[in-house]
Amino acid sequence: PLPEPYTVPLPVPPVLAPSGTSRGADRYEITQRRVTAEILPGVPTELWTYNGTYPGPTVESRRGRPVTVLHRNELPVPTVVHLHGGRTPAGSDGYPTDLVLPDGWAVHDGAHMPSDPRAVTSRVTREYTYPLDQRAALLWYHDHRMDFTAPAIWRGLTGMHLVRDAAEDALDLPRGERELALTIADRAFAADGSLAYPSLDPELRERPGVTAAYAAGVLGDVIVVNGAPWPAHEVDAVRHRLRLLNASNARHYRLEAVTDDGRRLDLVQVGADQGLLAAPVTHTALPLAPSERYDVVVDFAGLPPGSRVRLRNRLGAGRTRDVMAFRVARRAYDHSRIPEELCDDLPVWRRSQATAVREFAFRAGHTAQGRGWFVNGRPFDPARTDVRVRLGAVEVWRFTADVHHPVHLHQTRFRVLTRGGRAPLPHDAGLKDTVSLRPGETVEVITCFDGRRGRYLFHCHNAEHEDMGMMANLEIV
Ligand code: C2O
Ligand code: CU
Repeated sequence: PLPEPYTVPLPVPPVLAPSGTSRGADRYEITQRRVTAEILPGVPTELWTYNGTYPGPTVESRRGRPVTVLHRNELPVPTVVHLHGGRTPAGSDGYPTDLVLPDGWAVHDGAHMPSDPRAVTSRVTREYTYPLDQRAALLWYHDHRMDFTAPAIWRGLTGMHLVRDAAEDALDLPRGERELALTIADRAFAADGSLAYPSLDPELRERPGVTAAYAAGVLGDVIVVNGAPWPAHEVDAVRHRLRLLNASNARHYRLEAVTDDGRRLDLVQVGADQGLLAAPVTHTALPLAPSERYDVVVDFAGLPPGSRVRLRNRLGAGRTRDVMAFRVARRAYDHSRIPEELCDDLPVWRRSQATAVREFAFRAGHTAQGRGWFVNGRPFDPARTDVRVRLGAVEVWRFTADVHHPVHLHQTRFRVLTRGGRAPLPHDAGLKDTVSLRPGETVEVITCFDGRRGRYLFHCHNAEHEDMGMMANLEIV
């Protein structure tokens, strides 16, 4: 039985407390384990979790203050943790074959192994080190195991990681209870309450992939926000800052905030995937591709107590049009404001500085196993270096797509230069790490590979496409 929309309260994931501090770094511990929890009220569902909750605990960090996270794997399969949007040394970036093995597993004991065993390192616990020397932003962490990322995310292996900094603190954006981090995702449930996912191997041990009917990506008919179906949240009639994350495997949203009398509230965007914009951008509807983050301010001022504002998905049909609702509880004093200038330190890279223009086609293909998704005509191979770039180089990357592909680069932040041969769209503003390619579209981005040396990835963040080969190696030298 599915609940009526807007009857379940919005959960706020717990903020993880450090287990200790040493030499200026905060140390955290997370255990990956199975739990039975209620997503649909009264219906027990088995989840794979970080520390027992879906989403996992939120980590809050300060820019430049390093963090270590010790992950212990108590799940029945190997896992890999990636901090999405983090500028992380390659050894802690969660390369898909850097497995954290469950207790009792040996490297070749049934685990799906890449062709080059030298690429494999594994252990039961693993400490990930994040320097977090980067702008304030909403990052997220999720599983990234080779061939099995999509079903692991679907079962619950996601969490949010907020990076804060002084520049952002100095702005009077809504804070405290007036800032809400929202993990938006879709799920499907079987009649017995379990999560329904069309894996070829339900044990997720050996055979990757989904049944042919789902090769384009897996969609669910229940929209969950912070792990609750179509939740409702009580707010004061003031500005609220919504940190939106689309953590869906394949679903795209086009969000609008609508009052019950049909008025659309402005979504004032103040930040993108990689932090604050230079100046706010006002939207009436905002597209969110898988893994994109948008930082928006919504003003509930003037709405009478008792009124309701729904966050709706214009791309949905039936129940998937509903996302969540805000109930205005009371009038209150608003200390916040949205400055006309949000920051003045965004890097500017020009096409004339670029030392290379590279082309990447994101398209369907065929393998001996059936349908696949390829970058430049080839499925992912951990033993192959697809692109080698020089540390510090400015480059233009031109992506083309057959169908929708949200393209994500690890370790870098980029700007959208052109979309479909024209100027970028309003929602392309700012520094991003994921860009949505629409069907048939060409998108150019510009970036400087000024992070660190090492082997990283870029890939489609439709999680099923990613598992079916749409990923490539980026080596920074
Ligand atoms: Cu959100 Cu390569 O990942
Ligand atoms: Cu894709």
